[in-house]
Amino acid sequence: MSLSNPLILKKNSMYSSLLLHSENATCTITINRPDKLNALNKTVIEELGAAIEQVNADPAIRSVILTGSGPKAFVAGADISEFLTLDAKGGKALAQKGQDLVFTKIERSSKPVIAAVNGFALGGGCELAMACHFRIASENAKFGQPEVNLGLIPGYGGTQRLVQLIGKGRAMELLMTGNMIDANTALQYGLVNHVTTPDQLLEKALSIAAVINTKAPLAVAGCIAAANAVFNEQKNGYEIEIETFGKLFGTADAKEGANAFLEKRKASFTGR
Ligand code: COA
Repeated sequence: MSLSNPLILKKNSMYSSLLLHSENATCTITINRPDKLNALNKTVIEELGAAIEQVNADPAIRSVILTGSGPKAFVAGADISEFLTLDAKGGKALAQKGQDLVFTKIERSSKPVIAAVNGFALGGGCELAMACHFRIASENAKFGQPEVNLGLIPGYGGTQRLVQLIGKGRAMELLMTGNMIDANTALQYGLVNHVTTPDQLLEKALSIAAVINTKAPLAVAGCIAAANAVFNEQKNGYEIEIETFGKLFGTADAKEGANAFLEKRKASFTGR
């Protein structure tokens, strides 16, 4: 796949900082500011929000891969150059807008979003990877929450999701030191599921997406909603699991799945 393919760029000219490429029901969204290590400025945040909505509304797409352009970075954080003019009110608004527009939206996406982390995932980049449903990293990936170096804390959900994913003690250390961890440490911590060579990263993400694409879309969406509910203190996750499990029994795909198994054939899921 060539990300510099002019046809792809033309087709997605509605985005100035993203490249979208759809193939075999998987849409790969590439954040494309390699000269700034794909830092999340206002435009990238707005475009990411729009792209997530676009892929969720597209019945031809069943899964999404999120990655960064260039060999060096997934995303090196929020764009620090936009911090200079912010006061307390502006800082709060930045975090609120980013969480509403992108991070929460990705986490709650009914289609699976896989982060393919191809280099630095720092600050908002680590938070973006953590908002995805799971992560695959290349050997050169580095993760960290260096906000403390700027006199800040993470504002895009990092304090919550890092604790959820790697446990409180490890998260506290990373948050308070601002230290980076490499891909193999991230694997050992459970922050990423697989580590590949840089060349094999997208291939690995696409191969996992291809497996998910064969499953019943409503069941996949149900897995996401129920697993997310583990961390939703307003609602009991077990109750949400029971509700979602029950609802799926009312779908054509659940009937098709059971019939296909009993008839010893491959299921053909339609998303109904
Ligand atoms: N915001 C804005 N610009 C950023 C950025 C960020 N978060 N991260 C990198 N850049 C820019 C650099 O300013 C530089 O721009 P320039 O070429 O116009 O000077 C360019 O991207 C390349 O980065 P550079 O720092 O030269 O690369 P490096 O290999 O020496 O260092 C990092 C890489 C990731 C260690 C370093 O860029 C860094 O520490 N970035 C900030 C990480 C951070 O604190 N993120 C959390 C923000 S809340």
